[in-house]
Amino acid sequence: MTVSAELIVQQVISDAGPLPAGASLDRIETPAAVVDLPVMAANLVRTAEYCREHGLGYRPHTKTHKSPLIGAAQLRAGATGLTVATLREAEVMAEVTGDLLLAFPQVGAAKLARLIELAGRVERLAVALDSREALDGLIGAVAGWKGSLGVVVELDAGMGRAGVQTPEQAVELARAVTGAKGLRYDGIMFYPGHIREAAGEQDAALKALQERLARFLGALRAAGLAPGMVSGGSTPSLWRTHEIAGLTEIRPGTTVFNDRTTAAIAACRWEECAYSILATVVSTAVPGQAVIDAGSKALAKEELRGTGDGYGALRDRPEVVVKGLSEEHGLLDLTRTTWRPRVGDRVRVIPNHVCVSVNLQERVWGARDDLLLCQWPVAARGRAPAG
Ligand SMILES: Cc1ncc(COP(=O)(O)O)c(C=O)c1O
Repeated sequence: MTVSAELIVQQVISDAGPLPAGASLDRIETPAAVVDLPVMAANLVRTAEYCREHGLGYRPHTKTHKSPLIGAAQLRAGATGLTVATLREAEVMAEVTGDLLLAFPQVGAAKLARLIELAGRVERLAVALDSREALDGLIGAVAGWKGSLGVVVELDAGMGRAGVQTPEQAVELARAVTGAKGLRYDGIMFYPGHIREAAGEQDAALKALQERLARFLGALRAAGLAPGMVSGGSTPSLWRTHEIAGLTEIRPGTTVFNDRTTAAIAACRWEECAYSILATVVSTAVPGQAVIDAGSKALAKEELRGTGDGYGALRDRPEVVVKGLSEEHGLLDLTRTTWRPRVGDRVRVIPNHVCVSVNLQERVWGARDDLLLCQWPVAARGRAPAG
């Protein structure tokens, strides 16, 4: 049964920390990260319903929000487990789920020791890898250990970032995992990060991906190594993931909040962007522009798909873009608007790439429209062991 978006909002508010006395959107210090809770909850419910409709497991990537509070909301919406990219994210998300996929190879003694410590207290932890070296590290780390650690073989689906290149390599690694004591062969994963065009223009890329995945699945099945988990998915390809045969689950991250890039490729509507940076106009001295107190240390200096069209745009005036960024200064381009802000005015900026903006924040404020409701820490940022 689908949990209602309103119930998710209410639970986030009750899990989150109380507001400082007198806090309101007009008064809190800026820059401040603000999430519109009903918009976020609707994003979660929409994604969970899509997964249910297509028989796909929903394992959202928590690198976008880095908060166990939002992880818990995703689980309430129907997520079967959570994805993480760092050990700190894994340790923090273990507070809310016993089913974690660490979608990043763990290499080096320090990380491996931390991984095994975590695996000992999590019901089901799996880690991705694409090399014999990473596997040998894991085998060494679990030697003499009583538990069982899942391994997922990553394949390169076309992005050219990580992942084994051929079905033969996948078979070889999967076979080596099945033969290793203390390790469990959970399946395969890939990240289609190369698919960044609008949903209607993804036909060729999806077809190539589908064919490539079929070759890997065919080889693994023929070798008696049929994967239990076939994990894929991304936000740009989200609404067409069901067209890729053989997937058992997807790991969208950005879609929880969405951002200007996601809206630019029509993977969400502008109104579905839940996260913005509240900023104050601090200077209008230079003609044709206004300066806000949100620079690259609040918004992150991320290009909009190589277009050069700024680093973010105003939520309520999307024609006004952030044309330049210093560390603490954001420059609003006023040449495409008749709006003339005054020093002291407040604006909300949708960043180009929400995940890196969240990572720059200590806390996030939860709101409904212009009403501030709660706040929570971005608990999984940083690298240090949690707790
Ligand atoms: C391995 C992996 N899985 C899933 C995701 C989620 O992608 P998106 O934010 O496009 O939904 C990412 C994003 O970086 C990723 O690296």
